[in-house]
Amino acid sequence: MSKILKWVGLSLLGVLVIIQFFGIDKTNPPIEQGEEFMTLVETPPDVAKLLKDACYDCHSHETEYPWYTNIEPVSWWIAHHIDEARGHLNFSTWGRYNAEKKAHKAEESGEEVEKEKMPLPTYLPMHPEARLTGAQRERLASWFKALSEQEGRTSDKTMEGDSQPPMEAAEASHGEEEEHEHED
Ligand code: HEC
Repeated sequence: MSKILKWVGLSLLGVLVIIQFFGIDKTNPPIEQGEEFMTLVETPPDVAKLLKDACYDCHSHETEYPWYTNIEPVSWWIAHHIDEARGHLNFSTWGRYNAEKKAHKAEESGEEVEKEKMPLPTYLPMHPEARLTGAQRERLASWFKALSEQEGRTSDKTMEGDSQPPMEAAEASHGEEEEHEHED
């Protein structure tokens, strides 16, 4: 019995040693300043700090990788989170979203923060700076809601322009062709 346990233990150790050679890629993708959230959206300093402290490690190309991201398989789990997070919402490429998507992402951000789903709870033990107080949560949530409404208005205008333009929009577009970017 003890021989089997020893064998299992040594095998596990062997696997752990071997997987250390399969570390994650920690190169942050490049950032185009013109697409960056805080270049495009006027962000008050306190909100900017909250976002950098509590969101940017996962939702941007400014990820900082702490020492334990050198340990597999922990690093795989973290890399997967970052991948998924950037797929859902990426502050570094905010400029690529159209107005409608911006409004939607801002709305979701407010909701996720309000419901304490974000920042991801598993992130908090190692990141005390990301543990939001009730007041910080409220500040961030209401700021995102306001942003969502603001982006929503931009989006409504674009939509009106796309379909039947109402009187004033028709007048405003005299002589000037509006350009719309289409994204898939
Ligand atoms: C530790 C990494 C991590 C941090 C930090 C983090 N997120 Fe996320 N976020 C994720 C992951 C992973 C997902 C996708 C899976 C999910 O929804 O749980 C996600 C999803 C989201 C979504 C999309 C939800 C949806 O339904 O599509 C929003 C919005 C969001 N996060 C906002 C934020 C905001 C705002 C912050 C900061 C206050 C933040 N996140 C901090 C990892 C993170």
